[in-house]
Amino acid sequence: MKSSGWSNKVATKQTSSIPLWLLAELTYACPLQCGYCSNPVDYPRYKKGELNTAEWVDVFTQGRALGALQLGLSGGEPLLRPDLEELIAEARRLGYYTNLITSTVGMDLQRVTRLREAGVDHIQVSFQGANAATNDYFAGTECFEHKVAMARAIKESGLPMVLNFVLHRGNIDQLPEMLLLADSLAADFVEIANCQYYGWAWQNRDALLPSRQQLQEAERLTAEFRQRLTRPMELFFVVPDYYNDTPKPCSNGWGTTFISVTPNGMVLPCHGAVVLPETEFPDVRQQSLADIWQRTELFNRFRGNQWMKQPCAGCEQKEEDFAGCRCQAYLLTGEAANTDPVCSKSPHRHLVDQQIERAAALIGRVDAPVIEKRNPQNSRGLASS
Ligand code: FES
Repeated sequence: MKSSGWSNKVATKQTSSIPLWLLAELTYACPLQCGYCSNPVDYPRYKKGELNTAEWVDVFTQGRALGALQLGLSGGEPLLRPDLEELIAEARRLGYYTNLITSTVGMDLQRVTRLREAGVDHIQVSFQGANAATNDYFAGTECFEHKVAMARAIKESGLPMVLNFVLHRGNIDQLPEMLLLADSLAADFVEIANCQYYGWAWQNRDALLPSRQQLQEAERLTAEFRQRLTRPMELFFVVPDYYNDTPKPCSNGWGTTFISVTPNGMVLPCHGAVVLPETEFPDVRQQSLADIWQRTELFNRFRGNQWMKQPCAGCEQKEEDFAGCRCQAYLLTGEAANTDPVCSKSPHRHLVDQQIERAAALIGRVDAPVIEKRNPQNSRGLASS
């Protein structure tokens, strides 16, 4: 990968912002094989050296001392951590609002009870499709009926539940059935989250990106369904930003709100940043979280707007969108400091448009690429395994 030439250890400036959101990626191990997973495509190289229970509790403690309030527990599949309940109990003791992000594979009725008793505040369950055939095909394992049963158990336990459906070209036509499923499971919140192109989804983008027409129809059907709802259910439709002409304010601005810790203790300003061509990332085993947040070059690199180039530097939107997503700028242009190419003012917007045109041309073709499953065989750049 191209080197950025930056060091993580160089002091640049102090910040007074607070990392309100701490994301703990407890493990990259996962029984599912979703071809749009946001984990790094070379995830097996991180399988050694997962933080242990005491190290995670220390991270949570340091995060609270920095002001973090929301804790996301994700993976991989966090249920694979046998200490998950212990970690949740510690998070509760520290005063976090804790959101468990899971496929439910590894959950049973007793575990739902244990998770609730440990103090989890909120569980987010992912579905890969609206029925067993589609869900299990994209998950790469038989799990649909189990997910339905666990979603019911979560609701019966009294916990708030989010259902998350990642939409892509292979399942977007099932949107009406997904909405009916969510309603039948009494979800409190539903995210119809169009695939974003990072990690495995970046690798599979030719197979995943829907057409503009498919997307518009999905958005229309979601709005219609929202009108017909007869019970409280928050329904969010997240557009894939390739189809926008203004960029998303990714992570609410780099190094302002969000801090992410990988299974082996690397600390990132967003969970996608592992893609950046760093020689090394800040490591919570080597430095305190406060030091990393306040002083490392990585966290300071895109804070504020002094780093911005044109057209962002002269744009009246720069305080709203923070020049978009640094990881997307890097993936599409090879330079993280460029304007996010999603922006219509970006000199690289044609790269997004070319991707959209390529995706549209592939729809319905027998030789269209198939989604590569997330598994060690399809991993890229394995330094060790
Ligand atoms: Fe890293 Fe957007 S995913 S800044």
